Amino acid sequence: MPRKKVTIIGGGATGGAMAQRLIERDICDVVIQDDPQYAGSMHHGKALDESQAAAWEGFSGRISATDGWDDTANSDLIICTAGAPRKPGMTREELLNGNAAIVRAKISEAAKHSPNAVIIIFANPMDAMCHVAMKASGFPRERVIGQGGALDSARYRYFVSDAVGVSPADVHGYVIGGHTDTTMVPVVSQTRVGGVPLTDLLPQDKIDAIVARSMRGGAEITELLKVGSAYFAPSAGTIAMAEAILMDQRRLIPCSVYHQGEYGIQDVYSGTVCQLGEGGIQRTFELPLTADEKAKVVAAAAATKELVGLISD
Ligand code: 2OP
Repeated sequence: MPRKKVTIIGGGATGGAMAQRLIERDICDVVIQDDPQYAGSMHHGKALDESQAAAWEGFSGRISATDGWDDTANSDLIICTAGAPRKPGMTREELLNGNAAIVRAKISEAAKHSPNAVIIIFANPMDAMCHVAMKASGFPRERVIGQGGALDSARYRYFVSDAVGVSPADVHGYVIGGHTDTTMVPVVSQTRVGGVPLTDLLPQDKIDAIVARSMRGGAEITELLKVGSAYFAPSAGTIAMAEAILMDQRRLIPCSVYHQGEYGIQDVYSGTVCQLGEGGIQRTFELPLTADEKAKVVAAAAATKELVGLISD
């Protein structure tokens, strides 16, 4: 079987971290696509540098860089990191129209060259950018997926694990809804640590603090980094999604999906738990939410719909 091929659009901090995580899993070839006008030759430098790590890291896939689109042709997966990151004090929503133009241009080209690919969107505001990508590619919802929930759930699981004193691997919890500081919904009622409800393990004030910190997780990192936004946890979440799709793992990962009836929500991207495997989203899962959680999920989708209405063509 030929190796799978993944194009990562954008060779900045996030694209570079994703490329490294992915090539070192040795499950595909990786092409980093960027525009020399913005990136200079940085993406070429990163691809060559990482190629030279192969002898010690033990991977045999090929990692390369390109300025155009021909070398991206027939990718199985396209991960779009292109777009401006937010600066300290900025919301993700403020990036709306600037990033929409970039995502539209990049995804039109990428989809033309890889008509059967699955697309994962990273640029912010992520749920709204999924709408741009769906329209620009003409792909069905199964093949245009946003990465927010994978990242937000990783942050939430880390904070829970730290507070309880267990491995994050043994914390099962999901963040759904929107990928913004105000519309994320950490689903506390369904969070389990080794099967035990979180609400039996921590007092309500501690849980509230974890929820608040998870929702501002990206902003906290942006403030600490000062230049650019997070990329280690974002790349980990996105590459877990990529691996699930490339290897048909059928993993359940919260991601942004075009809702068609989930939680009673229609025609808008929002986060829910998805089964990821060959072909992208194979199935969606609705969690049994409390009335308050359900109201927040519905409000998150309404906020995204409003944001999408502000995108200029
Ligand atoms: C974050 O939450 C970049 O949106 C991303 O860090």
